[in-house]
Amino acid sequence: MARSKIALIGAGQIGGTLAHLAALKELGDIVLFDISEGTPQGKALDIAESGPSEGFDAILKGTNDYADIAGADVCIVTAGVPRKPGMSRDDLLGINLKVMKSVGEGIAKHAPNAFVICITNPLDAMVWALQKFSGLPAEKVVGMAGVLDSARFRHFLSVEFNVSMKDVTAFVLGGHGDTMVPLTRYSTVAGIPLPDLVEMGWTTQEKLDGIVQRTRDGGAEIVGLLKTGSAFYAPATSAIEMAEAYLKDQKRLLPCAAYVDGAFGLNGMYVGVPTIIGAGGIERIAAIKMTADEQAMFDNSVNAVKGLVEACKAIDPSLV
Ligand code: APR
Repeated sequence: MARSKIALIGAGQIGGTLAHLAALKELGDIVLFDISEGTPQGKALDIAESGPSEGFDAILKGTNDYADIAGADVCIVTAGVPRKPGMSRDDLLGINLKVMKSVGEGIAKHAPNAFVICITNPLDAMVWALQKFSGLPAEKVVGMAGVLDSARFRHFLSVEFNVSMKDVTAFVLGGHGDTMVPLTRYSTVAGIPLPDLVEMGWTTQEKLDGIVQRTRDGGAEIVGLLKTGSAFYAPATSAIEMAEAYLKDQKRLLPCAAYVDGAFGLNGMYVGVPTIIGAGGIERIAAIKMTADEQAMFDNSVNAVKGLVEACKAIDPSLV
């Protein structure tokens, strides 16, 4: 069977890391696309030259021509600008919306059968715009946010409890921003829910609240430390987990920014929800029950995403 083809639209910090991870995991041949001349070519060659030592078989190509993504099975989109200290993800909207238009058109023309994973921020609005601009089926266009937010939550919890990250599961819903909703009831250490662990004296409610807030601020914490850009190792790893679920038809249940029409009382919008990812793309949405408090937090997050979508429509009336 021929190798899969993975197109990375944007060859910056996340794009380069995606290419490296995809090669190390032998997910397929890799095309790095960017408008910056030389960057995708340089990164592709550099990673290819790590192949002999690492022992992976993958062809890497860097390009400034969309024609080279032809027939891609997966496209992962990081094109755009990242935030700097003091900026929120929402501050990127104006610039990155224009980028989504050109990327959407490029994918529609050259890789219309791909599973598309958007990482560009502000995520929930950008993935919505990318689906509209590309015209690809909604179940094949998805945003990476929940896997990363959950990974950050899991990391902090594993440190707090001094247990293996492998045994910590966590659930984060809603938009990828300050209003995201880490669901403690559905987050566990090997099946023991976090509220029970508080009762067992493994942590305190106060500490848990602090971890929830640190998760919400997880992206800003990295931006504050790096000063010149935003996180890239964990975002790339999270998107690769989603790409692998699609390419290997793993039917993983992963929180993603998916198109929700009907479930959770929503009428056709992108927001972070639990989804099954398999060969069909987003194959199912798990419409979990929420308590009144959780629902209120989720509604707040949904309203924040709706505000961003309205801002996109005001900038580009073709999206109305
Ligand atoms: N088409 C293709 N690539 C583009 C375009 C475009 N229209 N506009 C910009 N780019 C490229 C830039 O040339 C750059 O190489 O996108 C790349 C972005 O890389 P970085 O600036 O290193 O940003 P990165 O850290 O990878 O983050 C990318 O992901 O998490 C989000 O907020 C983050 O929106 C940002 C995106």
